[in-house]
Parts: sequence; C-alpha cells; structure tokens
Amino acid sequence: MANMQDKKDTAGQAVRLPRHIAIIMDGNGRWATKRGLPRTAGHKAGAETFRRIATYCKDIGVKYLTVYAFSTENWKRSTEEVGAIMGLLKRYLLEAVDSMERDHIRLRFFGDMTPIAPELRALAHATDEISDHLPEGYFQANVCLNYGGRDEILRGVRQFAADCAAGKRRPEELDEAMFSGYLDSRGIPDPELIIRPSGELRLSNFLLWQCAYSEFYFTDVLWPDFDAAELDRAIAAYQARDRRFGGVKK
Ligand code: FPP
Repeated sequence: MANMQDKKDTAGQAVRLPRHIAIIMDGNGRWATKRGLPRTAGHKAGAETFRRIATYCKDIGVKYLTVYAFSTENWKRSTEEVGAIMGLLKRYLLEAVDSMERDHIRLRFFGDMTPIAPELRALAHATDEISDHLPEGYFQANVCLNYGGRDEILRGVRQFAADCAAGKRRPEELDEAMFSGYLDSRGIPDPELIIRPSGELRLSNFLLWQCAYSEFYFTDVLWPDFDAAELDRAIAAYQARDRRFGGVKK
C-alpha cells in the first residue's frame, strides 16, 4: 500500500492527502454488458469495489468518502435494476449494522429518503444512530441515495425559508457557511477531489454546491475495475495540482 500521506513534493514539502474524496461510481452496466452479464451483475461488482475502496480510503487516512449510489434520475431505470441496487444497499446496511463499530466506520446518507422503501429507510436510520455514538474522528462514508445536487439545494432553500417564516432566521444573515449548514453535507468539508471513472466527463447533478473548488479526476476504468492503484493515481494527480482558490501563485 502506498503511503500517500508521507509523499513529498520536489521541494520536500509534505503534500496533503485529500480529507474528502467523492466518487461517481459509473460504468457498472458497461462492465457487465462487456462480459455478457446482466447489468445487475455490474452493480453487484460495483458494490464490492465500494467496500474495497472505502477500506482503502480508511487505511490511508482519508477522512470522508462520498459515493453516488442512486440519483434522483435513476428511478427511470427498469424495476429490476432499481430493485437490484436497493437490494445491494440493503445487504450492505445489514452488514454495516454489525460491523461499523468494530471497523471504526461511520455511515451517513445524502439525499431525500422519503420515497425509499420503509425497510431500507429503517436500516439507514439504524446506521445513522450507530454513527451518532461513534467518535467524530472515525472514517466516514457518505452514501448518496435518491440524491440530486439541485434537489439538495432546493430542500435547503425550502428549510431556510421555513425557518425565516418561523422567525428563527433572517434572510439578510444568510451567508455561504450558514447555507452549507442546510445541506445534507452539513458539518463535512467540501471534497477536495471528485473522481469519475468510465470515461464520462460530466458531473450529473453530483455535489453541485460542494464542488466549487474541487479538483476533478477522470479515468476510462469502469467502476468495478477501479482499485487501490487507480485511487493512488487519482490522489497523485490531485497532489500535483496547483490549487489557487481564485488567488495567484505565491
Ligand atoms: C452507475 O453505473 C451506477 C449506479 C447507478 C449504481 C451504483 C450502485 C452500486 C455500486 C451498488 C450499491 C452501492 C453501495 C454503496 C453498496 P451505470 O449503471 O450507469 O453504468 P453504465 O453507464 O455503464 O450503464
């Protein structure tokens, strides 16, 4: 395993490991089709990749991993495919309930959980409660489920408007920090690195507010084939970037 934390640049300065990495887990369908398998087999393999990459992130010292598991648009897929993805999530949550404490993993969900099946919602609630009792310093995985960046912003705006109507907030006090507190990602730093495998070069409604200064890494590798070496390459690419946040190079 590469020790990404100890990496030094040419001037001998320690290069920062991203605290928060976000991934669009894309290419499951194509991976399966290439092998003559049903698309659902691609999602099954994708769920395994998620387990491996989450463990690797935890091991190298990344604090947050956010993955796009199911978008607000993914309901357009066949009932069979939607059912398969929900089934994989259910299986993962059932395992998580038993293993989070032992493995030092906190788990959170981003997205509107209202249309999610009650059984899966109850499991998400259970993992949420376990996470509440685990130390903040633990590695945290955020799973985006029925998530859309625009929808997240709209839900935040609605809640802020409701708080104003209730006299708890005043419109003129709203700033970026306060608005961030109305999002699913409240309390979590923005992702420094966003990865999209499978050769697609778009954001697809992922973390629209949080990506303002993220670095992007695209690779042709399909998500089920994505591995630790590929993550190391993405982190190395991030570490080679010159991040100026609108300023000039010192
Ligand atoms: C995108 O690939 C992938 C999805 C819409 C589903 C991702 C879900 C999982 C990996 C399973 C559950 C997750 C966890 C966290 C256990 P695609 O189907 O759009 O691929 P394609 O573009 O090749 O068709």
